[in-house]
Amino acid sequence: MLENLPYFQQHLESDLGRVNLVINQAVQSEVALISQIGTYIISAGGKRLRPIITILAGKSLGYDHDKLYSLAAMVEFIHTSTLLHDDVVDESELRRGRKTANNLFGNAAAVLVGDFLYTRAFQLMVGSGSMKILEVMADATNIIAEGEVMQLMNIGNTDITEAEYIQVIQYKTAKLFEAAAQVGAILAGANPEQEQALKDYGMHVGTAFQIMDDILDYSGDPAEIGKNVGDDLAEGKPTLPLIYLMHQGNEQAAADVRHALQNADRSYFEKIHDHVIHSDALAYSTEQARIAVEQATACLDKLPDNEVTQAMCALAQESLSRIS
Ligand code: IPE
Ligand code: IPE
Ligand code: MG
Ligand code: MG
Repeated sequence: MLENLPYFQQHLESDLGRVNLVINQAVQSEVALISQIGTYIISAGGKRLRPIITILAGKSLGYDHDKLYSLAAMVEFIHTSTLLHDDVVDESELRRGRKTANNLFGNAAAVLVGDFLYTRAFQLMVGSGSMKILEVMADATNIIAEGEVMQLMNIGNTDITEAEYIQVIQYKTAKLFEAAAQVGAILAGANPEQEQALKDYGMHVGTAFQIMDDILDYSGDPAEIGKNVGDDLAEGKPTLPLIYLMHQGNEQAAADVRHALQNADRSYFEKIHDHVIHSDALAYSTEQARIAVEQATACLDKLPDNEVTQAMCALAQESLSRIS
C-alpha cells in the first residue's frame, strides 16, 4: 500500500529492515513450534503499518535511535498476536495470502503462540525502561480486548447504531494505531500538545483503516487482500455497509441484511453482496473513512512541517485507496 510513496522508498524500506531484524530475533524460542508458527505468520508479510506509524511519529520530532525500531517491532508483535487470536475467533482460513495458523496448526497452537508473541512484546517494552510506554501499551491492549468482546456481544445485533460500531472499531483496531503513534511521541520527548496530536492522528487513521477493511470484506479481491471476503457476514458481524443498508437501504435490502445477520451463514453472501454493491452503502462508508482521514491530517498541523509529517499525510490518504 505504501510502496509507491517516495518517502517509503528512500527511508522506510531500510527502517523496516531494522525492525525486521528485531522481529526475527524476538520470535525465536527454544520451543520449536513457537519459532515455526511465529516465523510462518511474520514471514508472510503484512503491511507493517503500525510499526511504520511508530517510526514516523518518532522521526517527525527528530528522534532516531535503536529503541524506536525495537519498540516498532514490539507494536507489530502485539498486532500479530491479535491476528493469531482473531483468526481463531473468526474461524478465518486465509491471512496474508496463506492458510491461517489455526487452519494449518490448529486452534490450540495458534492461541498459545499468540500468547507467546503477546508476552514477548511486553518483554520488549520492559527492555525500553519506560514506565510510561508500559502504561500506554497495557491500557491499549486492555482496550483492544474490550473491543473484541464488545464486537462479540454485537454478533447478530441488527439494532447496533453507527456510534456503537465506531466505538467497537476504535477499541479493537484504532487504539493500537493510537498507541503506536504515542510510543513514537514518548520516545521523541514530545511536548503534551504534540503527543496528543500524534495520538489523535493514530486514532483517526486507525478508524479510517478499519472502515476500509470492512468495505473490503465485501468489495475486495481475495488475491489482493490475502483474506477471504464474506468472513464478516458469515460471522453475523454488523459492519458499516450493513448498518447503512439497515437504516437507509430500501426495504428489501434492509430486511435481507437483518435476516442474514441473525442467521449468520456464508450462503447469504451473494445476495447481501448484491445489495451492498447496488446501493450507496460503499460510497457512504468510504465517505466516513474519508472524514476520519481528514481529521487525521488536521492533527499534523500541530507538528513540524517536514518530509516525515508529509509522509504521514500520504499514509493517511493512502488508507482510502488501499486494496490490501
Ligand atoms: C488486519 O490488519 C486487522 C485489522 C485491523 C483490519 P492489517 O490489514 O494491518 O494486517 P497486516 O499486518 O497488513 O496483515
Ligand atoms: C481485526 O479485526 C482486529 C483485531 C485483530 C483486534 P477483523 O477481524 O475485522 O480483521 P480481519 O478482517 O480478520 O483482518
Ligand atoms: Mg475479528
Ligand atoms: Mg478477523
